[in-house]
Amino acid sequence: MVMATIQSLCLLSFLLLLHHVFAGRLATNPTKKVYIVYMGQINNLERTRIEAKHHEMLVIATRSEMVAKESVLYHYTHSFSGFAAMLSDLEATTISTMIGVVSIFESKVRTLQTTRSWDFLGIEKGKSTNSRSHFHDLWIKANFGQDVIVGLLDTGIWPESPSFHDGSLPPIPTRWKGTCEVGDQFNTSHCNRKLIGARYYKRGYEQQVGPINAKDSSGDYLSPRDAVGHGSHTSSTAAGNFVTNASLYGLASGVAKGGAPHARIAMYKVCWSDVGCTDADILAAMSDGIKDGVDLFSISLGFNPEPHFEENALAIGAFHATVQGISVICAAGNSGPTPATASNLAPWILTVAASTIDRDFPSPAILGNGTILKGQSLSPYKLADKYFPLIFAGDAAIDNSTTASACKANSLDPKKVQGKIVLCMRGNDFGTEDGEEVLNAGGIACILGNSPANGKHLFLDVSLLPETNINVDDAVIAQEYIRLNRNAKAKIVPTRTLLGTKPAPVVADFSSKGPNSLNPDILKPDITAPGVRILAAWSGANSPSGLPFDHRRVAFNILQGTSMACPHVAGVVALLKSIHPSWSPAAIKSAIMTTATIVNNLNQPITTALGDEANSFDFGSGHINPNAAIDPGLIYDTQPKDYVLFLCKAGYNNSAIKLITGLNLTCGTKVPSISNLNYPSVAITNLRKVRTVTRTLTNVGSKGSMYVVTIQAPHGISVEIVPTSLYFAAQGVSKSFTIKFTPSHPSNGSYLFGSYEWFDGVHAVRSPIVVSTI
Ligand SMILES: *[C@@H]1O[C@H](CO)[C@@H](O)[C@H](O)[C@H]1NC(C)=O
Ligand SMILES: *[C@@H]1O[C@H](CO)[C@@H](O)[C@H](O)[C@H]1NC(C)=O
Ligand SMILES: *[C@@H]1O[C@H](CO)[C@@H](O)[C@H](O)[C@H]1NC(C)=O
Ligand SMILES: *[C@@H]1O[C@H](CO)[C@@H](O)[C@H](O)[C@H]1NC(C)=O
Ligand SMILES: *[C@@H]1O[C@H](CO)[C@@H](O)[C@H](O)[C@H]1NC(C)=O
Ligand SMILES: *[C@@H]1O[C@H](CO)[C@@H](O)[C@H](O)[C@H]1NC(C)=O
Ligand SMILES: *[C@@H]1O[C@H](CO)[C@@H](O)[C@H](O)[C@H]1NC(C)=O
Repeated sequence: MVMATIQSLCLLSFLLLLHHVFAGRLATNPTKKVYIVYMGQINNLERTRIEAKHHEMLVIATRSEMVAKESVLYHYTHSFSGFAAMLSDLEATTISTMIGVVSIFESKVRTLQTTRSWDFLGIEKGKSTNSRSHFHDLWIKANFGQDVIVGLLDTGIWPESPSFHDGSLPPIPTRWKGTCEVGDQFNTSHCNRKLIGARYYKRGYEQQVGPINAKDSSGDYLSPRDAVGHGSHTSSTAAGNFVTNASLYGLASGVAKGGAPHARIAMYKVCWSDVGCTDADILAAMSDGIKDGVDLFSISLGFNPEPHFEENALAIGAFHATVQGISVICAAGNSGPTPATASNLAPWILTVAASTIDRDFPSPAILGNGTILKGQSLSPYKLADKYFPLIFAGDAAIDNSTTASACKANSLDPKKVQGKIVLCMRGNDFGTEDGEEVLNAGGIACILGNSPANGKHLFLDVSLLPETNINVDDAVIAQEYIRLNRNAKAKIVPTRTLLGTKPAPVVADFSSKGPNSLNPDILKPDITAPGVRILAAWSGANSPSGLPFDHRRVAFNILQGTSMACPHVAGVVALLKSIHPSWSPAAIKSAIMTTATIVNNLNQPITTALGDEANSFDFGSGHINPNAAIDPGLIYDTQPKDYVLFLCKAGYNNSAIKLITGLNLTCGTKVPSISNLNYPSVAITNLRKVRTVTRTLTNVGSKGSMYVVTIQAPHGISVEIVPTSLYFAAQGVSKSFTIKFTPSHPSNGSYLFGSYEWFDGVHAVRSPIVVSTI
């Protein structure tokens, strides 16, 4: 049960589950809660002076020197000032009125949200593809990312995984100031030239959720060691070293590697195996990472619904990281296909949706009457090539159990399933549990059919017996076949790895969708990347299914989620940082977004799992295209001061803005729409008559470039761009243009999609447009 919580991160039920656990435990400590006091940017202040200031505030609020000292969990003293402390509501209110406080909020609990994928992205094909100027061998150009330090906030890392070997890596960059923290089964010898930093954060978690038990009593390692697998998976996806002959029981076999195979990894363990991660710990990790010298953060954590900026620790930490030139890449969340579910919405974050790659694991089920059901499976076990009796689990209930059709624990009658293939209907859980019941009751194999709620998307897990997974339509056929045939039988063809499947990519239906629920005038998510059935490193302390009764251990595991998509983008960001060390986080983000592709490997528009044409609420600017991203031609750059527009619209007054940014900037009397932020995509909401927004492009390509714009206007909207051509005499030159939106006929208020693209004959610089009218 404990592990199931974390493992179910791909499933919709996870947030609910978390809520129950957390609410139950919180009630035990009703008087004091973990609050985060956020005090904005700090420039060159000594740590001791900042801590003294925090202490002073706490003494006033708690009226006791001793209580003030005891209540502090963390001082945040790098780049931004603030602290986390145990406070009563009254004490919190007192602090909220003190000078220098931007906001104070309760620390919340967050949830966590490969070989083939990099081939699919074309990085490895760089040399062999046609030599258009923007197809380089990205890895060679970027030196495999060896000068870049990738910071991850996750469940820790399994240092013995071959993905983290440091063979052939040069010494650690001298600017690195991080450490390798010693703890439970983790010492400094576990760090090397690949895993250069590892820390862990538990104070917020222990106050909010409860003490962390030692690993040997089903807890977690009190150290950076990964008891779950998630953190090892994301780390190796972003920056794992080359590992030949990696696979999961022979599936998805090949050379495993991260996006930036020689980049350095710094793990900040903030998530613990039974519940998740707290804001207080997350902010402490980000503060340390900024000080340590990471170049980017890859953060596969989500929150649904997304809190407003002033109460959003991750967005606050990400803002100050961005100000320091550190890119922050986050998962969009796994709450799709419901609209407006995307998380990590701040404009300085690069927000990643998930989509498939061109790889399937087919394992058809063949019914006795010859009908072939297109199943897929990650089962390591093979069933003999002959027919076996087939029974529907609902017909095999023990004692009229009502949960038998879903093969819940102790629901099946061994007398009825002995020696048979059992058809189970999937609920909102991991299929491994269903397989366990079939196995325990003496069944020989399992066909797991999606319920109507699961639809067509097949969730594959590493089953405990021969198994295949079928969609809801096929499950209905199988049930009918069983009903009409007294001697129903079936066979299951063992799974294999099939490459080059089409269409791909397809946006995953679990991937969280736009519009942006906080600021619909900023389009989110930003980009999509591989996040379905991704092979990457795993923890030696957890089974591939993540369930406690499963005692198997694997070096690599196959997972899905926006958690897996996020480090794919982080790997590409690492390569871009290597090639363009002077580019701002916004410039790198722009390069990735404006070069994204919107067509699949059939050269057709990318689709959703339902087969509809995907739109910007599914995938933002499109699917990441690493080779094109190194040479985008033009970028939409954004300086930290430009985010003042966003903060003004978010309701901050001038004094708060000075605190947050550390800059002497004011909102002015008439604040323009956030649509004017120099973002690489455009969102316009509640358009009534005419609205005009401005964008500025900076040339990062060759001198003397002439770009001409083409527009795909959303249906029923007139879009006019002035001027229609831009000439850049030199590199570094910036040119502005306006985009005027006019509704041409009344609309019913639904969102309309379009795009515009600047083209110089070589570089296509594309931006999606989303408009809603009144
Ligand atoms: C670190 O732990 C390993 C075993 O995991 C042990 O072999 C090694 O001696 C330890 N190193 C130090 C410096 O304690
Ligand atoms: C590759 O891995 C498979 C399964 O783990 C193993 O059977 C095979 O011998 C390995 N091949 C090589 C060349 O190491
Ligand atoms: C199961 O249900 C049937 C009819 O609904 C009833 O006749 C039978 O007694 C029940 N058996 C048990 C063991 O509860
Ligand atoms: C097998 O049975 C199912 C369920 O009745 C039916 O939908 C399907 O068409 C049958 N296949 C053949 C080849 O008759
Ligand atoms: C700014 O807002 C904060 C709270 O949001 C308030 O305490 C402060 O007095 C305001 N300052 C000004 C100058 O209005
Ligand atoms: C901030 O700007 C205002 C107006 O632009 C100016 O009067 C003031 O002196 C500035 N303060 C600092 C500390 O630079
Ligand atoms: C609104 O109009 C669009 C296209 O004009 C249409 O696709 C959509 O179904 C309409 N929505 C409603 C709620 O009527």
